[in-house]
Amino acid sequence: MTQNQIKIGIAGLGTVGTGVINLINKNKNEIIERTGCELIVQCISASNKNKQRSCDVEGINFYSDPIDMLNQESIDIFVELIGGESIAKDLVVKALEKKVHVVTANKALIALHGAEVSMLSLKNEREILYEASVAGAVPIVKVIRESLSANNIEWIAGIINGTTNYILTEMLISEKSFDTVLQEAKDLGYAESDPSFDIGGVDAAHKLTILASICFGIPLNFQSIYVEGIEEIELEDLKNARELGYIVKHLAIARKKDTGIELRVHPCLVPKTRLLANVNGVKNAVVINSDAAGSTLYYGAGAGSLATASAVVSDIIDISRSLVQKANYTIPFLGYKNIIPENNISKIIDVETRYYLRIKVTNKPGVLADITKIFGKKSISIESILQKEDAEKDVNVPIVLVTHKVIEKNIDEALNEIEKLDVVKDKIKRIRIEELNS
Ligand code: HSE
Repeated sequence: MTQNQIKIGIAGLGTVGTGVINLINKNKNEIIERTGCELIVQCISASNKNKQRSCDVEGINFYSDPIDMLNQESIDIFVELIGGESIAKDLVVKALEKKVHVVTANKALIALHGAEVSMLSLKNEREILYEASVAGAVPIVKVIRESLSANNIEWIAGIINGTTNYILTEMLISEKSFDTVLQEAKDLGYAESDPSFDIGGVDAAHKLTILASICFGIPLNFQSIYVEGIEEIELEDLKNARELGYIVKHLAIARKKDTGIELRVHPCLVPKTRLLANVNGVKNAVVINSDAAGSTLYYGAGAGSLATASAVVSDIIDISRSLVQKANYTIPFLGYKNIIPENNISKIIDVETRYYLRIKVTNKPGVLADITKIFGKKSISIESILQKEDAEKDVNVPIVLVTHKVIEKNIDEALNEIEKLDVVKDKIKRIRIEELNS
């Protein structure tokens, strides 16, 4: 390492990679003043050298194979921005084995292979930092690992997928169907051409895996997360929820309870008055409830070129500072010195929430009595009922019910029974309600 120059190699030159190069150039002086060192992008790798790019790559060594880049270049920090699992993991492993520090924005890599790469990082005494893997520009990993380190965190709830938040927001504002808004999101470049990980909740679950581990000191455990996407949400439900005083959001929730840790990703009705209910479009936001700090909220851009680069470059700066000072970086990979094996993750059937239900029924006397009888048998208490359609005209009408708190297992059993009634016409729509107040 040249004195006060940190040499960087970047694999992946898409939106984020381009942003990293631009940000390092744009704020070169600011970074030198803050850190006492200059960040030099020495080499980059991307599949197509001649692709038109919105960053200046002149003078940077180019490789079409990132393995070649790692083999041939001598760098201080390897920045993995390819994403996905296979090649990205191989590269990170290779970099650590070569005793090169790693910065990544790859949530799938950390969520699924974090334990393995962190062992390698310890063994080789090189860091792997991943701030950009969750909520883009929002500095949530540092906040949890460092700023809230004196706290017992009770729960965390976040809107951590911008695509789903954009779709839910736009459906309600423009009164459009899910399919129409999804296509618009693709056209605008918000949703991936294959958006299944976004709308199906997997992207948010990768991020929640990381958040839950650094909040509670538990192992990264993607498989234990209950995942539901927004594919089944209809405009009718968003409007009904608004009428009842709620906004539907796709939330990632981790909550420590006496009975176990809840890890779940699914759509929720959130009271209109909560800050999270007012986070719109592609923005991300995370609320953390902890014993000393109380409730704190973090909000900002969950994706985007310079926005995500802000998180990536802050990790590069953290490593650079310790390199310049010849000091060890001291924050443990998951924020805990000791990660305690945790086998007390609650099953979704044991989770207790209130419920929004929409049941399409034949419009005739006695139907409601049949339904409420089944709820009564399962000790499910109904808080409110809404039926808006003109009963004279409609043969089938939707009944909207809000329940008091109920264990998931009981609602499953009740809804199975109700769906078997002749008067019930469709699969019942159900969305959990989260008050987010305790
Ligand atoms: N696809 C993600 C989202 C952005 O829609 O929020 C990157 O994590």
